[in-house]
This record gives sequence, C-alpha cells and structure tokens, in this order.
Amino acid sequence: MAKGGTRSVFRCTDCGAEQPKWGGRCEACGAWNTLVEEPVSRTVGRSDRKHAVVSGSPPVRLSDVGAGGFERLQTGLREFDFVLGGGIVPGSVVLVGGEPGIGKSTLLLQCAARLEQTGIATLYVSGEESPDQVRLRADRLTVDAGAVHVLGETRLEAMLHHARALGSRVVFVDSIQTTYTEELEGAPGNVGQVRESAARLMRFAKEAGPAVLLVGHVTKGGGIAGPKTLEHIVDTVLYFEGESTLDHRILRAVKNRFGSVDEIGVFAMTGAGLEPVADPAAAFLAGRATGVSGSAVTALMEGTRPVLVEIQALASRAGFGTPQRVATGLDHRRLAVLLAVLERRGGLPFAELDVFVNVTGGVRLLEPSSDLAVTAALVSSVRDRPLPADALFLGEVGLGGEVRPVAGVERRLGEATRQGFRRVFLSARSLVSVPGLDVVGVDGIDELARRVAA
Ligand code: TYD
Ligand code: MG
Repeated sequence: MAKGGTRSVFRCTDCGAEQPKWGGRCEACGAWNTLVEEPVSRTVGRSDRKHAVVSGSPPVRLSDVGAGGFERLQTGLREFDFVLGGGIVPGSVVLVGGEPGIGKSTLLLQCAARLEQTGIATLYVSGEESPDQVRLRADRLTVDAGAVHVLGETRLEAMLHHARALGSRVVFVDSIQTTYTEELEGAPGNVGQVRESAARLMRFAKEAGPAVLLVGHVTKGGGIAGPKTLEHIVDTVLYFEGESTLDHRILRAVKNRFGSVDEIGVFAMTGAGLEPVADPAAAFLAGRATGVSGSAVTALMEGTRPVLVEIQALASRAGFGTPQRVATGLDHRRLAVLLAVLERRGGLPFAELDVFVNVTGGVRLLEPSSDLAVTAALVSSVRDRPLPADALFLGEVGLGGEVRPVAGVERRLGEATRQGFRRVFLSARSLVSVPGLDVVGVDGIDELARRVAA
C-alpha cells in the first residue's frame, strides 16, 4: 500500500495496463501474476510537471533543430563508447543488464575512473557493496579510480541529494534492484520499487542533466529482473553476456535511443579489469583448430560490424533409442530443419546419428545467413573430411535445399579477406567480385555437398 493515504492502482508489468483492483491475472493481456501496486499520486505529480515543461519550451521547426547530434561523454573504453553510439549522452539513462559475476560492476567502475581522468565528475552509488569492497575492486584495475566519489546507499532520495550536491555529470547506480524510494512501501527489488526508482532516476536525468547508468540483474530467463517495463522507461539497454568461465564478454545494445541497436562490443576479462578486444571481428576465431572435420566459418553481422565465428558439428553413431540433437548457440529447431533438408535434398542420412552443433566463443546465431556454414559443418562431420581452412560460408538455406543470398555481403567479405580468408561459398544468385577472394556460387545444398569435403 502506498504511504500517506494515497490511492493505488495495479499495473501489469507485461503490458502496462492499469486496473483498479488486484487480481491474479491481467485482464488486458491475460498474463498471470503480473499486477503490481502503484501509487496514484505519482501520476498527478508527473502531469503537473509535464505542464511546466511544455510551457517552458515552445515548438520549433524541425529544420531549426540543431543537427549537430548529441554531446557525448567519452570514456575512452573503446568498445563501450562504440556500443553506445559514440559515448554517454548527458541526460540519458542507460541500463546495463547481466548475470551476477559477469563484470557489470567492474565495467562501470572502469568507466567512472576514466571519466574522472578526463575531468568529468562522477558518483558511483553501490547498494550491493560497501565502499571498502568497491575500493578492493578498484585496486585491481589498471586505471586509477581514486578520484571517483563512492557512496554506499540504497535510498533513492539520498542518492539524488548527493548527486546534486556534488554536481555529478554521470551517476552510476549499482544496482536498480537494491534501490528503493521511501515514498513506497515494499522491499527493494520489488517490482513497484524498481519501476518507481527507475522512473525517478529518469526524471532526475532529464531535469538535472546528468547521465545515469543503472546496473540491472537478469533472471534465469534472461530478462532484467523486475518489471519488463523498465526497458521501456530507460533510453538505452545494454546486455553484458558471455560465459563467466571464458575470457570474452560481449556488450550488446538491445535498445538505444541515441544509436543503433544490435551493436556489440567485445571485451576480455583480465586480472586487471576488462580490456576492449583489439580485433573484435576475429576474437571468436582465436583457438580454432584447422584440419579437423566438422568445422566451418561464417561472417555474422553484429549491428554494423561483421564478426567471424566458427561452427562445429559432430555427427556420431547413436546408441539406443532416438538420436540426440544438441544445439548450443543456435535454435535447435533450426538445426532440425537443416538436418531434414540435408537428408531429403542432399541425400545425407542423419536418422541414426547423434548430432551436436556448437557455436564457439559463446556467440548465438540469430540470422539465417549462417545456415550454409552449419550445413557445411554437418556435411564435413558426417564424411569426416575437413573443409578448407581458408573458406567462408555465407547463405540462408530454404526448405527446397536452395541457397539464398544474404544482406551485407560486401561488408562481410571485406572483413573475411582482411582476416586471411581466400574462398567463399555463397548463393549463386549473389555473386560478387572481391579482390583476392575466390567466390564460389552454389545453387543448392546438393551442389555444396558435391563441392566440399568430397
Ligand atoms: P563483477 O564486476 O563483480 O561482476 P557483476 O557486477 O556483474 O556481478 O565481476 C565479477 C568477476 O570478475 C569476479 O568473479 C572477479 C572477476 N574480476 C576479474 O577477473 N578481474 C578483475 O580485474 C576484476 C575487478 C574482477
Ligand atoms: Mg556487481
């Protein structure tokens, strides 16, 4: 119940619909257990404020709006600035999500330290760790974080007070789940608290001008814990991912009001913090064993940047019962489709084989452009003959076994050539000529199966 006798409504955290009373199921979207209490007084306050803002700034013609773009605060952490679209935009709110232990606090502390070094005042609020613990982390970093102001605090009101008093231009809040406002009852981390705290920080950023970077924990399902609506409130959502056992970390922009989405930054976790990887396009090929069957390379577009990845397939005689199909890094249904197509259109029998497909480096294949590489890896594995080490595979595979063109071929091939690839197999319908590259067009997977690992 909201304090001070204010009335409450209940809001669905999935669709945002408002209802006067609580129920187990949202009447608007039908989702279960998504209704949370929210005080009404806030809406009134916000509409008052909206009024003030509207009368303060008159409409202008679009042509009179400055075309200079946004001011950007650069951290100098190259991959981080790149994912944001060039740096942190003052007045923006960025949510950095990721599993515990992936390196969110490390990343943000490094950013704070680097900003301070360029004379930008920062405040690092930690509700998860004491300033002593933050100090211990800082001591491991190569960058000197000594000038960063640290505050061990979970109350939103106190954070805002100190940020104003210090005149901080970038405020880090670690994490949004430990932050709470005294205006609402309910423990920190509760959906109402998370949502309200984020909304208040957003208003603070828009009105007072500093950028706010929030840490958000993700649930097992991969979403940011708390309300899904959090992603709608903030300007930018970045996910920090990777296997905590591997060195590589990928920072991915899934929403960005000030830059392009799907952009990724690649870091290596070292003993002294996160290092931007020098050559992100080739980062996931490191450690590739050549001359082994079942390995194929493709070029993915991650945002505007091509990235080369290796796909490994292993087909082996099944033991008892239904053969296993295990896909890591790609949709298992996509694998089932490609196996069926290979069997029917390519005449390769997989019915009695266990099939394992793995994308190395913790990368996920989200675009069908990698179909041809998965197919080539499967052909190579079932015949136990390696593919040429300098060959790249690029194409979508249709149900008829036809190989289809993919977007951005020039960019992908440009990167592949730079990385030393000399041959590319792609759709005969998208033949291009690239200096130094032997371009092989294939119409269907039957033709691919005749040409490789034969
Ligand atoms: P952390 O930033 O605390 O993760 P999060 O805030 O996402 O929970 O980092 C967690 C791990 O990173 C921790 O297991 C220790 C490791 N680490 C390094 O390997 N090198 C370093 O320089 C630092 C600071 C941490
Ligand atoms: Mg942390």
